[in-house]
Amino acid sequence: KRVTLLNGPNLNLLGKRQPEIYGYETLADIEARVAALAAELGLEVAAHQSNHEGVLVDLIQAARGQSQAILINPAAYSHTSVAILDALNAFEGLVIEVHISNIHKREAFRHHSYVSSRADGVIAGCGSEGYLLGLRRIASLLG
Ligand code: DQA
Repeated sequence: KRVTLLNGPNLNLLGKRQPEIYGYETLADIEARVAALAAELGLEVAAHQSNHEGVLVDLIQAARGQSQAILINPAAYSHTSVAILDALNAFEGLVIEVHISNIHKREAFRHHSYVSSRADGVIAGCGSEGYLLGLRRIASLLG
């Protein structure tokens, strides 16, 4: 079974960007840990990152009929993007939303995520481990 891993804007800077909030691991480190766990769980992962809302919409559309689940950190677009929500609503599989930081403990504008109204599960504040927890959840839901 196939999982699409999507990371939104500025997550290409992980490791360098506000490490006190987002940690010292790079996106490549996280993608490698996700790939290693996926292999253990018998899942295939296609990983992408984009700083562009429309590119993320295209990637979500491309997952239709190809992936059984999307594991997504929409980053700042969580709080603004109806377009990403609409694209996820057109996706027939599972959606798990991940945030590295606890968005509820931060500024008020981060407390609401459009994506959460579509997500089958939401993980926030578990650091980069959230991606692994999300993948485990996908594996158990996909059986
Ligand atoms: C984030 C939280 C968002 O509010 C922020 O815009 C990000 C990263 C997180 O992983 O904690 O870029 O999604």
